[in-house]
Parts: sequence; C-alpha cells; structure tokens
Amino acid sequence: MTTLTEPCPMQAWADAERAAGRRIALVPTMGALHDGHLALVAEARRRAERVVVSVFVNPIQFERRDDFEQYPRPLDDDLRICAGARVDAVYAPSAAAMYPEGFQSAVEVARLTEPLCGAARPGHFRGVTTVVTKLFHAVRPDVAVFGEKDYQQLAVIRRMTADLDFGIEIVGVATVREPDGLALSSRNRRLGADDRAAARCVPRALDAAADVVRAGERRAAAVVARATAVIGAEGRARLEYAELRDPETLAEVTEVAGPALLALAVWVGGVRLIDNRMLVPEGDDR
Ligand code: PAJ
Repeated sequence: MTTLTEPCPMQAWADAERAAGRRIALVPTMGALHDGHLALVAEARRRAERVVVSVFVNPIQFERRDDFEQYPRPLDDDLRICAGARVDAVYAPSAAAMYPEGFQSAVEVARLTEPLCGAARPGHFRGVTTVVTKLFHAVRPDVAVFGEKDYQQLAVIRRMTADLDFGIEIVGVATVREPDGLALSSRNRRLGADDRAAARCVPRALDAAADVVRAGERRAAAVVARATAVIGAEGRARLEYAELRDPETLAEVTEVAGPALLALAVWVGGVRLIDNRMLVPEGDDR
C-alpha cells in the first residue's frame, strides 16, 4: 500500500494506473475509520482494480472550531485498517498541501444545500464540495463511493458531479449500524456510556416513524411528530431537526405519497448525530 501526501505525486500515481488500463475507485473520508467506511471500501473493490482512500479532516467544512479540533485523527490505525482492507493507496494530505497560502476558490451547489444540514451548518456543504472537487482532481477516479448515512451530502455530490461534467460515477452505500441500530460514526467515540445508551433514541425514532407509515399514516406532520416524540422522551437528547423530504429534490413533503426521506439531527452529550430513513408507503414498490 502506498501513502501519498501531496496532490502531484497522487496525480502521478493515478495517471500511471490509468495508463496501465486499470479502473480507479476513490473513497473520500475524514479518517477514524470504522466498519461504515469499510463497507464503502468493499464496494469500491467490487467496482475497480485500484482503490484509493483519502483521509483528510477538512477544516473548511467545520463551522465550529471545537468540533474540528476534537475530531479524532488516529492516522496510524487508519493506515493499518486500510492495509488490512487491501486498499492500494491512501491519500492523506496535510492542510497546508490542500489549502496553501493564497487559496481562495470554492465550488458551490445551490438549492440542494439550503435545507437540513445546510440550514444548520452554514458553509458546511461549500467546504464539502470544494474538498471533494480537489480530491477528485488529485485522483481522477472512474468511480467514487459515498455513504447514504450522509444522505444530503450524497445528493449534493451527485448534483455537482452531473452539473459540472466530472465524468465520475457516484455510488451510494447503505448505512452500517451497531447491533442496537445506532449508525456508525467517527463521532460516536466521543459519547460517554450514558450518552451512548441515550443515542439509541435516534434509530428508535426512525423505526417508530416507519411503523406509523406502515400502519397507514400519510400526513407528514403526524409522521414527524412520532419521531419527535421519541427524541423528546429521551432526556439526554435534543432535537435539531426532524424533516420529511423528497428523496430527489429534498423539497419538503406534506404527504407520504411515495418514498419519502425522514432526516434527523440530534444532539446527545455535545455530539451531533445525523441519521435518515426512507419511508415507503405500503403497496408502493418503487
Ligand atoms: P466521513 O464522515 O469520514 O465519511 C466518509 C464516508 O463514509 C461518507 O461518504 C459517509 O457517508 C460514509 N459513512 C460514514 N458513516 C457511515 C455508516 N455508518 N455507514 C455507511 N457509510 C458511512 O463524509 C465525510 O467524511 C466528509 O464530508 C468527506 C466526504 C470525506 C469530505 O470531507
């Protein structure tokens, strides 16, 4: 496994692989790798002869300095995990390599970034699309793999890739969960034991909402109220948003007439957890 830390050597490595006729898949991450990331690597392996994992805690997508500073950075563990998963190259640039003195460019997607996490975290998606563009240009992969856990991020990257003719296939992978339903996240390791137990309310709220839809409820407000009540019953949790949205446009829906995305952001013990679930009304086989 090769480790590269600068854009030019990364491009040279990728150019040589491509010249030898090998397809390249990229898995962008911020490290602190867990089984959710590894599911993305496994999907990447199935789709290309060479797998590149990028590990970069991107300062420009954090709107809170403490969150950026507290973000875990176990690079040695990450390199070992990548080697064990038969990753071919890890791209782990420094902040100085990514954003040298004088850096002043950005890539921005408009409407899709306005609701949900975009409303709660101003500038966040601009930071994500800018860094992903840079990672795409360093690796120029045939395919890039992202998790459905960050549903809005996946939608925004699909939009950017199509709008700007990147010519990269974007693949989404289903959310990997702990046995009790909590979505794996690098931030989970910041939860103390009580908060970890309380965090279970997030998948429970999604399940409860899915249950009321299965029982015939179609009014978005009632579905959202069910999820909100489950979060509200957990004293250690504070709801940031619970919204039902169109899976394609992320426009608000008032009625569950077809598949609808329920998206949650919940604070537990100073950690912000996001999760989502597609709600599909009975008899809808889309
Ligand atoms: P990070 O949070 O490290 O996530 C990297 C990728 O792993 C994302 O595509 C995310 O959706 C996916 N992922 C995280 N937890 C997952 C889970 N439990 N199941 C499945 N996939 C999961 O997302 C980012 O980093 C950054 O914003 C990045 C795209 C790298 C840009 O900086």
